[in-house]
Amino acid sequence: MQLTRKGLWGGIIREYREFLPEIEDSAITTLHEGNTPLVECVNLKPIFGDLRLMLKYEGLNPTGSFKDRGMTMAVSKAREEGAKAIICASTGNTSAAASAYAARAGMKAFVLVPDGAIAMGKLSQAIMHGAMVLQIKGNFDEALAIVKEITKDYPIKMVNSINPFRIEGQKTGAFEVCEHLGHAPTYHFLPVGNAGNITAYWKGYRQYYNEGMIANLPKMMGFQAEGSAPIVLGHPVEHPETLATAIKIGNPASWDGALKARDESGGVIQAVTDDEIIEAYKLLAGREGVFCEPASAASVAGAIKMKKEGVLHDGDTVVCTLTGHGLKDPDIALKSSEKPIKVPADTAKILKLMGF
Ligand code: F0G
Repeated sequence: MQLTRKGLWGGIIREYREFLPEIEDSAITTLHEGNTPLVECVNLKPIFGDLRLMLKYEGLNPTGSFKDRGMTMAVSKAREEGAKAIICASTGNTSAAASAYAARAGMKAFVLVPDGAIAMGKLSQAIMHGAMVLQIKGNFDEALAIVKEITKDYPIKMVNSINPFRIEGQKTGAFEVCEHLGHAPTYHFLPVGNAGNITAYWKGYRQYYNEGMIANLPKMMGFQAEGSAPIVLGHPVEHPETLATAIKIGNPASWDGALKARDESGGVIQAVTDDEIIEAYKLLAGREGVFCEPASAASVAGAIKMKKEGVLHDGDTVVCTLTGHGLKDPDIALKSSEKPIKVPADTAKILKLMGF
């Protein structure tokens, strides 16, 4: 047997160079993000019937979320331009990715997060990677407004998805889906928070379509949490609420991009309740062995809802992006499940509990 079977995946910039803006080799900052698996659901037939349900498991990126695709681009570009520092507002995952890629590029990262509303795993990542973590007494939308103000006047590169290179990197998720399936799906479901990712996926699908790589385009299906659903309501939400903290956003920066993706593809942007999100979250972990964070499960909650409403049919290929890993938010995992059983170190008692 050969020791090296295949070359190491080079990360999305090297692998998709011809489809991305040019970047100098010496500036490329990568953790070999991308090439995440498309996992087929095998145990959800009672809910989905004979449609093909595939999970794009983005939690398997280097920092545990899809943000790495955009961050490798944004940080590499910032480095090419000679930036010494980057800044972002975040509900957690962007801050984790920004901190890691900044550490690798030898840059300083400043991250603004809403105090008390970011998952523990994400906070620990930003701290470990050496970012200055500023927990503001306010929500994500307020943090983003401050970041916009600061980057107007100071030489710090903003790496929120308003930075166009973030979207460029994230569109590679759509490329991979097409390559893994051999075609585009019928429907693509995504959670929607700041709306950058749905904008990016649609850009990626359209690019592959225009280049003749795929023959059809998917319908883009975006799902917000009911208490944080500005796009569904048609107006900003001043005090967004949801236990899916990653998408607790009341005034998405890429609002227009999300509407464009919905309207051009013939898709929808709708809401799911926190209960529906938790139900999908537990279903994926318990029946498919796939652990994602609550916000990610909004995509599958949306697919369940659309199946119940008769929108999805047998024979459809449905892809749901699972945006972040379940380990990001152990608190919610433990709160939403049964408690472990405490037992003495006694074989007989343990066997009894096991039902023998
Ligand atoms: N899922 C997860 C796990 C996220 O972290 C985010 C966004 C989304 C979905 C929504 O994606 O914003 O492109 O519509 N998280 C950002 C952050 C806002 O700061 O980490 P979106």
